[in-house]
Amino acid sequence: MNKVKELFTGKAKTIYSTDDQDKLIMLFRNDTSAFDGEKIEQFDRKGMINNHFTAFIMDKLAAAGVPTHHEKIINDQESLVKCLDMLPIECVVRNIATGSLVKRLGVEDGLELNPATFEFFLKNDELHDPMINDYHIISFNWATQDEIEKMKALTFEVNTILKQLFLDAGMLLVDYKLEFGRFKGELYLGDEFTPDGCRLWDIDTRKKLDKDRFRQGLGGVVEAYEEVAHRLGVELG
Ligand code: ATP
Ligand code: TYD
Repeated sequence: MNKVKELFTGKAKTIYSTDDQDKLIMLFRNDTSAFDGEKIEQFDRKGMINNHFTAFIMDKLAAAGVPTHHEKIINDQESLVKCLDMLPIECVVRNIATGSLVKRLGVEDGLELNPATFEFFLKNDELHDPMINDYHIISFNWATQDEIEKMKALTFEVNTILKQLFLDAGMLLVDYKLEFGRFKGELYLGDEFTPDGCRLWDIDTRKKLDKDRFRQGLGGVVEAYEEVAHRLGVELG
């Protein structure tokens, strides 16, 4: 599969068209950003780790029946994926209260949420990804009611699968963000699942093993991502 044209360069990945109009090549760069792109840094090996990491997770989800865009790894930093018509929506599930939720609602950091809670955000950096609800999605035609229901159901299904996967490896899945897109009339999980878009804490020490290490300047960013990959048994390049 050959790259034809660079279609989009985001904050952490670059998307290329291929000679198959149904497939894209996704390049995971070493760039790491936070606070809507205000803080940016490069970390050696991060692109490679995230590419292998997301392939591993997508394969686990696909095996459990979740439709995903992932086709195959091409090389250490690139994967072949289905070309989705992405919905401009981010789906967030939270098992433990932390981050923006704590600031917004004034709740205790680290509070366990049972049941887990769910939020939609509009994917728009200029507006700082504002929180939206089902009615906004319908009124502004960002997705259909059926797609809303599917996004919620799939995002919670992912929670059941991944909470256990991380727990078995000694980690708490605190929260995460998913993005979905349309392909031939069906909804698929797109984008990525990596420590860039979720929070993971060590179950005993509550040490942060995700992008909060970068956001909060804690150091050891790539080392933490590598540790998570190692604990899960992800093969790295
Ligand atoms: P953010 O971090 O807020 O997602 P970004 O848009 O800068 O911002 P990147 O990860 O750098 O993020 O870029 C990847 C882009 O590719 C995203 O806009 C994402 O929605 C899009 N994308 C992901 N998977 C697919 C897919 N299968 N088909 C088409 N576009 C996709
Ligand atoms: P949230 O607490 O809203 O983010 P922050 O505290 O960083 O403002 O995010 C919840 C989880 O979803 C967290 O693991 C990060 C992830 N997420 C993204 O990766 N991108 C996003 O645009 C959003 C809204 C969340």
